[in-house]
Amino acid sequence: MKGIYTLITISFLLVSCGGGDGKSAADRIKEQAQMEPTDPYENWESNNGIGPIKDLTLPAEINQDMVARGQEAYESKCTACHKAEKKFIGPSPKGILERRTAAWVMNMILNPEEMVQKDPLAKKLLIEYNGSPMANQNLTEDEARAVLEYFRTL
Ligand code: HEC
Repeated sequence: MKGIYTLITISFLLVSCGGGDGKSAADRIKEQAQMEPTDPYENWESNNGIGPIKDLTLPAEINQDMVARGQEAYESKCTACHKAEKKFIGPSPKGILERRTAAWVMNMILNPEEMVQKDPLAKKLLIEYNGSPMANQNLTEDEARAVLEYFRTL
């Protein structure tokens, strides 16, 4: 007997949640899920960011000359806010290519102002870092590419 009452109560709840527009509760939940914005951190693989680099495929082999140049630039222009091994004012660049595309990283270095304003992932990162923005250190494209090569060795 009790089971039947529970069933009736559940059916009643489902019907009343559906409201007067003929949509079932299940339909509403589905609709809501479709409206939820997708998580930009999860969609990183399809995000090249906004800026001068449209697409970038890295050669399999790491170029050690480039790494040396990149490390030098990184140490003089980035370590005020980034530490290789741990979170500091900004995130650690260790393993960055496991969570960002190469083009995205380049655009973040070359065009951070626009990135934190318009790119969904960079916007989320800015919030996570309490609104302290990534600084434009005016690297040339070449220098930025060398820093990226250095990041591959961390
Ligand atoms: C004044 C501090 C500051 C300096 C200098 C700075 N950054 Fe940043 N950077 C940040 C902050 C804060 C963030 C995270 C918040 C944001 O993106 O706005 C960030 C984010 C990043 C990201 C994205 C990291 C991720 O996990 O997605 C990269 C890549 C980056 N910085 C590279 C560099 C490089 C390369 C330099 C040197 C050329 C540099 N940064 C110099 C503060 C700085």
